[in-house]
Amino acid sequence: MRKAAVMMDRDFAIGRTDPRLFGAFIEHLGRCVYGGIYEPGHPTADEKGFRQDVMALVKELGPTIMRYPGGNFVSGYNWEDGVGPIEARPKKLDLAWFSTEPNTFGTNEFVDWCKAAGIEPMLAVNLGTRAGDAARNLVEYCNHPGGTYWSDLRKEHGWEQPHDVKFWCLGNEMDGPWQMEYKTATQYGLVAKEAAKMMRWIDPSIELAACGSSGRNMPTYGRWEDEVLEHTFEHVEYISLHTYLNDYARDTPALLASPDIMDNFIDEVVAIADGVAARRRSNKRIMLSFDEWNVWYRTRRVRSERVKEGWPIAPPILEEIYDMADALAFGGMCISLLNHADRVKSACLAQLVNVIAPIMTETGGPAWRQTIFWPFAQMSRLGRGSVLRTRVESDTYSASYFDPRGAQDLYFPVPHTPYLKVSAVADDAGGLALFLLNRDLAQEVAVTVDARNFGRLKVVEADELRHDDLRAINSSDAPDTVRPTPLAGVTVDGGSIRATLKPASWTVIRLAPA
Ligand code: AHR
Repeated sequence: MRKAAVMMDRDFAIGRTDPRLFGAFIEHLGRCVYGGIYEPGHPTADEKGFRQDVMALVKELGPTIMRYPGGNFVSGYNWEDGVGPIEARPKKLDLAWFSTEPNTFGTNEFVDWCKAAGIEPMLAVNLGTRAGDAARNLVEYCNHPGGTYWSDLRKEHGWEQPHDVKFWCLGNEMDGPWQMEYKTATQYGLVAKEAAKMMRWIDPSIELAACGSSGRNMPTYGRWEDEVLEHTFEHVEYISLHTYLNDYARDTPALLASPDIMDNFIDEVVAIADGVAARRRSNKRIMLSFDEWNVWYRTRRVRSERVKEGWPIAPPILEEIYDMADALAFGGMCISLLNHADRVKSACLAQLVNVIAPIMTETGGPAWRQTIFWPFAQMSRLGRGSVLRTRVESDTYSASYFDPRGAQDLYFPVPHTPYLKVSAVADDAGGLALFLLNRDLAQEVAVTVDARNFGRLKVVEADELRHDDLRAINSSDAPDTVRPTPLAGVTVDGGSIRATLKPASWTVIRLAPA
């Protein structure tokens, strides 16, 4: 058995978690919207066509903000096609996913769905095939009270009150050649700046995120952020980051080490953003919007495959089935996000339903939780408060993470990976939540947590997520194969907490003042 020690002090915090850290993402992609959140005719659908079985799982998952409508889809989207009488809306070819978009669900339905779910809407504007004019019209349609063409059109469509959408993404992955009308950093920086200016002139209360790189593995990574922010620094609050972890190499230790690359990614983007601020001698701090993150590799598609399939409506694509090992890597990503609460102020799990998602459905049938559902639901429920600085003493291992999309190297070394990855969040009632990932596949870790300045604590809940088979999955027939179960033997002596973590496990412990 390995031993590990964690030390923290209630007064030494990294930062408070912003409620928007626990967001997710709905794109017009595959069966995320159609057959996912929206399926008129489904036995559980309400009068608006919203599946209530999915809604119940969404509420249990606990996302706080929802990004929409893309993703790659947004770079070819005419938002006007998705508003007004449904029967008059045009069907269009979607060149992002080689599907036919029926447009029977659009911005107003999305905002209604968010209201029903108690989630803040986040909208992305099309800066691919369109630019500032369409973006400012959408802000006017959504947020202006009335008395103008676009705001009165919203009223005519049945939405009297403004939607008051606060968080806006200036396009999506505009550095990627797969994107409709992708751009150089200069081209994008100029378009994003002009769009931002006009959008904010219409509604000064909005917050704006510029596109960062589509991933740390992009050839233009770093230079892209620097130049985009050089253009947009005065006009945006956030820069975006995207990460999808993979296990193409079938190397579980490397997969579990790879969330640490996400830590590097965040630190690097913070450094670049602060470098742009330094050139201006500015105290402004650009915050990070990690608006796509997940594990995703099995169901990636190339354009030539998509073309062969014709132009289906809501095809079952990107329906990644997550196993136990994915849930562990996903938990590591949750810890990385929490531990950067000072700068990552918004994050969106990509995506919500069916498409690389924590929730799966059968069209016309049931809905169930994938393995990755659990760490997210626990993080959203228990991750509210002050994330504490932790000092972790743990044995380490070295891994080499294979990324076939890497710009320079196919392998990223992850040296000195601690077997134990931890986040500690102090709540406002004097309690503490611990998120613990044991990355050792073979050995238990006996962990001692020294929680200073907490006084006497008691364990309120302790759950572990593990399975003897790292390939175990949940399915409609066996939806509970992988789910948290109580962890026995957690002890507290004053502020000293002891637990034994099983090999390859994710554990969450909640403590309250005794
Ligand atoms: O989330 C799936 C896709 O991944 C998104 O559409 C795109 O932004 C990213 O490449």
